[in-house]
Amino acid sequence: MTQRGLFITFEGTEGVGKSTQIQVAADTLKARGVDFVVTREPGGTPLAESIRELLLTPRDEAMIDTTELLLVFAARAQHLHSLILPQLEQGRWVLCDRFTDATFAYQGGGRGIDLNRIAALESLVQGDLRPDHTLLFDAPAEVGMARARSRGKLDRFEQEATAFFERVRQTYLQRASQAAARYHILDAAQSLAEVSQSVHQLLNALVDQHGCA
Ligand code: TMP
Repeated sequence: MTQRGLFITFEGTEGVGKSTQIQVAADTLKARGVDFVVTREPGGTPLAESIRELLLTPRDEAMIDTTELLLVFAARAQHLHSLILPQLEQGRWVLCDRFTDATFAYQGGGRGIDLNRIAALESLVQGDLRPDHTLLFDAPAEVGMARARSRGKLDRFEQEATAFFERVRQTYLQRASQAAARYHILDAAQSLAEVSQSVHQLLNALVDQHGCA
C-alpha cells in the first residue's frame, strides 16, 4: 500500500515572504527525491481559481462577510476533492500556500466571524483532514504591509488597515499556541537567508522523520 503523503501548509499575514519560502521548501524536497506538488488557496484548480478571482478583485458592491466565508470554503471543497486528497493518496506530499488556518485568521480574527461557525464549516468540508505540519511566517503586520504595498496594486484583502492584519496575526499565533506539535513558527522579520535556512532544515528533518514517498 502507498504511504499517504504529508500535507504541509504555509501561513502568515501579507508580505511575510511565503512564496519565496515555499520555493525553498520545494527545492529541499526535490534534492531529497521526494515526490510532491505545490498548490495554493484560495485556488489550486480552474474552478477554485475562478472563486479566488471573485474573492480578491475589489469591486463597487461590498462583499458581505458570510459570502466571503462561504466562497473560501467552496473553493476549498473543490481543491480538496480534485487535487489535495488524490495527491496525498498517491503518496505525494502537498505543499499548500494557505489553508483553513487562514480562514480562522482572516475571516475569524480579521472580520470577526465566530470561530465556532468556521469550525463547523471546516468539519463539513474537510471531515477529519487537517494539515500534518504548518509553517507560520510571523512578522509585525506593519513590516509585511510595507512589503505588500511596495509590490504595487493591492487586492481586496491588502486594502485592509494594519489593525486588521494585526488581528489576523494574533489569531494565527493563538492557534499555533494551542497545537504546538503541528505549527512551526518562523520569525519572518529575520533576513531572507536566515528564514530560508530554517525552512531548509525543517523540511530536511521532516524527510528524515517520514522518509520519501
Ligand atoms: P495570498 O495573497 O497569500 O495568495 O492569499 C490571498 C488572500 O486570501 C490573502 O489576503 C488571504 C486571503 N484568504 C482568506 O482571507 N481566507 C482564506 O481562507 C484563505 C485561504 C485566504
